[in-house]
Parts: sequence; C-alpha cells; structure tokens
Amino acid sequence: MDLYQLFYLSRSVAAPDDLDRLLASARRHNQRRGVTGVMLFSGGHFAQLLEGPAQALRETMVFIDADTRHTAVTRLVEGPIARRRFDNWSMAFFEAPGADDLIHHLLAGAPVSLERAQRIMERMLAHCPPTEH
Ligand SMILES: Cc1cc2nc3c(=O)[nH]c(=O)nc-3n(C[C@H](O)[C@H](O)[C@H](O)COP(=O)(O)O)c2cc1C
Repeated sequence: MDLYQLFYLSRSVAAPDDLDRLLASARRHNQRRGVTGVMLFSGGHFAQLLEGPAQALRETMVFIDADTRHTAVTRLVEGPIARRRFDNWSMAFFEAPGADDLIHHLLAGAPVSLERAQRIMERMLAHCPPTEH
C-alpha cells in the first residue's frame, strides 16, 4: 500500500471543552479512511502526525485546514513511509506542555529546512510513550 505521513503544527483557538469532541470526530473519520497517528496538545498549540494512503491524507487535511478551532496550520514534514508508527491508533493523544514555546517560535519564524523539521518531529514524537490499544 502507498503509505504517507504528514506532520504539521498549528495554533490552538480551541476551548478546553472542544478537545474531547474534536478527538472523537477525528478518530471516527480516521478509522473510516484508514488514517492513524498522534495528536500532541501543548496548551496553546497542536502538533499532529497523520499516516495513511495519500488520498486519505489529502481528504483529511481538507477538514483539518478548514477547522476553525486552530489557525496557522503549517506542514513541516510530508512524504512516503515504509510503515506506520501508530498502527493501533486512529488518533493517539498526548499533552505536551513542554513543546509550547518551541511550536510558538517555529510558527512565528522563518520556514525550517526539511532536515530540521524531521529532527523536530522526532524529538516531539520521542515524548509519546509507547502506545497500546
Ligand atoms: C487539531 C485538529 C486535529 C484534527 N485532526 C483530525 C483528524 O485526525 N482527522 C479528521 O478527520 N479530522 C481532524 N480534524 C478535523 C475535525 O475533527 C473536524 O471537525 C472533522 O473532521 C469534521 O467532521 P465532523 O463535522 O463530523 O465533526 C482535526 C481538527 C483539529 C483542529
């Protein structure tokens, strides 16, 4: 299967109460489309890794781009992958308060190189404990 990943950052304008609803809806749609991944919420920002077939990721990003609970949706890493990291998860969720400043600076600053973006992604994902069902 043609597997792709997409990692983006965004600025949250979600109310605390929005998160449960947002996640439930994301998981429902992702399960239907064969999309997996992880959402990191740092308080003021989101970072999200999506994995799945290219067409499924394109469809998903249309909804994500249009969602008014966040702004400044900025794709950092996009490309083919050999296997999924979160294959048991229609969308894992972790709070990552320590990442808030970094994401703020990244969104406010100049675009980052792919190499740096990949390092940043790996560093953020390293904070996600191993996931289970
Ligand atoms: C930070 C963030 C992450 C999101 N992640 C996903 C996602 O993984 N999959 C998805 O289909 N929609 C995602 N969305 C979009 C919303 O869940 C959106 O409401 C939904 O796709 C629209 O469907 P609904 O009207 O049935 O709720 C995300 C939105 C935000 C703000």
